[in-house]
Amino acid sequence: MLQNQPGVIWMDGKLVPWKDAHVHVLTHTLHYGSGVFEGERAYDGVIFKMQEHHERLHASAGMMGFTLPYSVDVINQAAMDVLQENNLKDAYVRPVAWHGPESLSVSSRSNSIHLAIAAWKWASYFQPNPDGSIPGIRLIWADWVRPAPNVGPVFAKANGQYIAGTVSKNKAELAGYNDALMLDYRGYVAECTGANIFMVKDGTIYTPIADCFLNGITRRSVIDIARQLGLTVTEQHITPAELSAADEVFITGTAVEVQPIIEIGMQKYPSGPITTRINQAYQKAVRGHTHA
Ligand SMILES: Cc1ncc(COP(=O)(O)O)c(C=O)c1O
Repeated sequence: MLQNQPGVIWMDGKLVPWKDAHVHVLTHTLHYGSGVFEGERAYDGVIFKMQEHHERLHASAGMMGFTLPYSVDVINQAAMDVLQENNLKDAYVRPVAWHGPESLSVSSRSNSIHLAIAAWKWASYFQPNPDGSIPGIRLIWADWVRPAPNVGPVFAKANGQYIAGTVSKNKAELAGYNDALMLDYRGYVAECTGANIFMVKDGTIYTPIADCFLNGITRRSVIDIARQLGLTVTEQHITPAELSAADEVFITGTAVEVQPIIEIGMQKYPSGPITTRINQAYQKAVRGHTHA
């Protein structure tokens, strides 16, 4: 059980025992989804793209209309302290900021703002095969779409943004799939519940334009990596028909890293050579020990 681990969690400036990192039941964010968070991975003790993650945490709060009471530098240090105090080298890191329980109305202006950072060992999002190879992921189409950007602060990594994702991923798992793939409000391919999507066709890599969903840090890293490998990457709207004609499909995200997709609904895909190249280059980059 995640809540019963040993170790410490950074909470509002202090390292507190893991089991004592509680919030009150009237916490505003529990009722109205008014918080923001990050998902990061440490490799050999170094958080990949830490600065970008903590800048995005600040930007997400800004889009939600509040200011975090800790600078990016303080959050960087706190995250590193959490890793060190918990003796973690390869870990998932979860900063979360929320509004406290002082009052309960839709408005959050009179509620205190809090920040916590937890980290724990989390080897792979999707279980590898016994021989260590990646089995490939099976997706189902989600019933829900990513909404238009004027529906809300859709570019914030905000708690309230995850309702459709949670419902869709639950349904996918119940049906025996790993995750759900969402279209956007126009019917274009958007993303998975916690990862961005890419396809390969005739040697070119395509990914949807991130104009109504999270432009993942991994997505941007993978675009850079692919171009460094001499591959062509095109950001464009992708229809489901174009996706079904793809040679390879893969998803990217901090948690999932780079994972081949072998099935979307009834459509099967091979775990292909370009995905393998990108995956290997990404694994090298995350252990390159740069915070940039
Ligand atoms: C909805 C959603 N899309 C995409 C991503 C991938 O983003 P990143 O690569 O920054 O982890 C995530 C994970 O944070 C996510 O939750």
